[in-house]
Amino acid sequence: MKFSKLNLSLLLAVAANATSPIGWGKNTTGGEGGVEYHVNSYKELKDALNNNGNPSGPKIIYIESPINGAEDDNGHILSAEELVPGFSFQKYLDCFTEDGSEWLNTDECNKINELRLQGAPIQAAQIMVRITPNTTIIGTGDDSRLEEMSIQIKESENVIIKNLSVEAPNDLFAEWDPTDGIHGSWNAEYDAIVVHNSTNVWIDNCYLSDGAKGVDTTQFVFGKYIELHDGLLDIVNSADYVTVSNNRFENHQKTSLIGNSDGRTTDRDHLKVTIYNNVFVNCNERLPRVRYGKVHVFNNYYYAETFKPGYPSLTVDNYYHDDNANPQYFIGLGVYSDVLSEYNSFNYVGNEEIPAADDIVVYSYGGYTFHDNGSEYNGKNLDFDKMAEESFKLKVKTKMAQNAINGKSNPAWTDATFTTETFEPSEYYDYEVVKSIDYVNDLINKVPTWMFNDVESFIKDVDEDSELSVEDVDAEIENNEDSADDSAEEN
Ligand SMILES: *[C@@H]1O[C@H](CO)[C@@H](O)[C@H](O)[C@H]1NC(C)=O
Ligand SMILES: *[C@@H]1O[C@H](CO)[C@@H](O)[C@H](O)[C@H]1NC(C)=O
Ligand SMILES: *[C@@H]1O[C@H](CO)[C@@H](O)[C@H](O)[C@H]1NC(C)=O
Ligand SMILES: *[C@@H]1O[C@H](CO)[C@@H](O)[C@H](O)[C@H]1NC(C)=O
Ligand SMILES: *[C@@H]1O[C@H](CO)[C@@H](O)[C@H](O)[C@H]1NC(C)=O
Repeated sequence: MKFSKLNLSLLLAVAANATSPIGWGKNTTGGEGGVEYHVNSYKELKDALNNNGNPSGPKIIYIESPINGAEDDNGHILSAEELVPGFSFQKYLDCFTEDGSEWLNTDECNKINELRLQGAPIQAAQIMVRITPNTTIIGTGDDSRLEEMSIQIKESENVIIKNLSVEAPNDLFAEWDPTDGIHGSWNAEYDAIVVHNSTNVWIDNCYLSDGAKGVDTTQFVFGKYIELHDGLLDIVNSADYVTVSNNRFENHQKTSLIGNSDGRTTDRDHLKVTIYNNVFVNCNERLPRVRYGKVHVFNNYYYAETFKPGYPSLTVDNYYHDDNANPQYFIGLGVYSDVLSEYNSFNYVGNEEIPAADDIVVYSYGGYTFHDNGSEYNGKNLDFDKMAEESFKLKVKTKMAQNAINGKSNPAWTDATFTTETFEPSEYYDYEVVKSIDYVNDLINKVPTWMFNDVESFIKDVDEDSELSVEDVDAEIENNEDSADDSAEEN
């Protein structure tokens, strides 16, 4: 198929303004035909979701200005110290030895930690907002932004979130765990959006990122930057029939988890997700990482820089040579996943002395069902099926070796044979892949269309960032390491 420039922009215009999704989420209608609300505060948003005591009735909620989940009913933004008088994050940090390896077991420190533990559920209650069934939430202007909020599409159905900027919330009571990984790790809660045991969900034309409060690269603590974010868009607990389209994901570490536990066998036959026409810029891993689900990933543009401050995309093989560090990768194949990738453009740029690991495009955590049609890595069409197979075989080998040492039995998947026989999306829905990598590469300039007119500033940022050296990121490289290990189940 050949596309002229004109055809391409037409296609993009159509994609960005689509009124119904392609793929597993195709039956989603949201609040179509329902009551309309125009909201400008957190309280108004929560009231609109309640829909005058009929929370499941259809409703369209227009977001007209930035809305902050830390805001109280009087419009005041609550700090950690206000949520829990006496708590101070700095005091918590000061309660570790200078290298972060040990907790100072003083009465004062134990009191601070108690306050931290008290604060967590208070913040959760403040910032988590349940999205009721039959709802469309839509941004109306450049200011339409949801921040410091954890959007919970939980035990719900038929939800559309579109045309919005969504900034990942910061965990004000995050934990430093010196024993997590070889150098310790930050554990933070709260996904920006979580789809939990819900069906028919469409996330479209949004800008999802860490936003203004990204990883703070000015403050190194215990050899790492402080990471206060969890997932950006997680799809878990038997969630089903989800489409993620025309979004730009940027500057985030643990981006999109589909299925959060190997042991959650109730996810079998669920977690069906279609991901198309999205852009992933400097998102370090889980794009997505799948367990159990049938996931179709097509026409997405991926861009990762080796030394992006706060979000470096370095891979284990080429940098750490360390089994305890987790890899950076685009698509993760978890247990019993079934993933078809088509005409995606994967790009990894930066220091040429640090080439990507062989499994940067597709990394197996025990998943063995994968096929790719037509994708490219840095402009080359490679044998991604072979790479997935090699990654799976390596995972089986390392898992069995570990289990032999620990006297554990091997999970069933270690006996499986890799296959390229994925599910066939066309048996479930109509779709058309654009068979042009030029089209996919151009998405960076287009998605979401309304928020990124300024292409040149993006190119300029990239050039400036590539000045950084290996030393600059040496200690922060494992920021992602909490959980990708398959022994850490709930991530
Ligand atoms: C959409 O709805 C139709 C009609 O109810 C149903 O047959 C089909 O299975 C649904 N498709 C998906 C992908 O949910
Ligand atoms: C959503 O709306 C549809 C159509 O009005 C209705 O049949 C359904 O019960 C609603 N969902 C819930 C959970 O109430
Ligand atoms: C989406 O947002 C843009 C501005 O950010 C606005 O111009 C446009 O009308 C919005 N789209 C819809 C369908 O409301
Ligand atoms: C999903 O929610 C329903 C109620 O809406 C509940 O019965 C079911 O147990 C939940 N399933 C999971 C896996 O959480
Ligand atoms: C793409 O993959 C599907 C599913 O594996 C397969 O049926 C189809 O023939 C492939 N198409 C091309 C053009 O390779």
